[in-house]
Amino acid sequence: MKKRINNLPIGIFDSGVGGLTVVKEILKKLPNENIIYFGDTARVPYGPKSSDTIRHFALQDTAFLISKKVKLIVVACNSVSSNAMPVLKRHYKLPIIDVLKPNAEYAAYSTKNNVIGIIGTHATIESGAYEKYINRINPLSKVIKIPTPLLVPIAEEGWANHQIAHDILKIYLAPLIRKGIDTLILGCTHYPLFEKSLKNIAGKNIKIINSARYTAKTVKDILINENILNNDKKKGDIRFYLSDIPRNFKYVAKQFLKMPVSNVKKINIEKY
Ligand code: DGL
Repeated sequence: MKKRINNLPIGIFDSGVGGLTVVKEILKKLPNENIIYFGDTARVPYGPKSSDTIRHFALQDTAFLISKKVKLIVVACNSVSSNAMPVLKRHYKLPIIDVLKPNAEYAAYSTKNNVIGIIGTHATIESGAYEKYINRINPLSKVIKIPTPLLVPIAEEGWANHQIAHDILKIYLAPLIRKGIDTLILGCTHYPLFEKSLKNIAGKNIKIINSARYTAKTVKDILINENILNNDKKKGDIRFYLSDIPRNFKYVAKQFLKMPVSNVKKINIEKY
């Protein structure tokens, strides 16, 4: 039974282009897997929206990927991962992996002084989901969190390495550094683009947890454990579906994925 699903694609979705940082890491770890990516570019950003709206969108995004016969779904969006996982798991039986747990676990186990910082969208930070999960694993940990909503538009403008990004990051991180964090979770799939600047500002005593990297490792572990790795020896293909094709999509996508994007199709997500 399991053999038949090995060659099906992995479905990955995000509110827009941020999830491409997860795709990039999955391609590195699992080059033979076929991927279907859905970006809800017509309704992005999810970060400022209510939990109800995020749950409604997440169900539609998942239904679309399931219509493409995927074997596993990766929720490559922290705003969805922290607000909609219970409802997705209630509705669907296939493995659904979020970006929150791999990072929270890694942070909870690797902190030395038990002071963990989190940056993310309003939806992620206000959900309380990260600290709930971290405290379950490491009840001694203290979580300090701040919403950093300016980072998504800066990343999408291609300015992640610009001085302006550095200045804003410095202001955002100051209270976290003051409170002595030794671990910083990048709680948004757009934020790996700022990793270099963040490392500069945070210094070598703060460990930066890139959500895309640990999620990709979890995906690989689950495919192995479930015995559903693609056994085709050739390089996998990747297809992109969007709910709108923004004017600058190819330019922005290339910055996130570090390679040119083709095979892009527009779909009507409201149908799902
Ligand atoms: N990529 C989304 C996340 O990880 C942020 C963008 C948005 O606000 O939709 O939360």
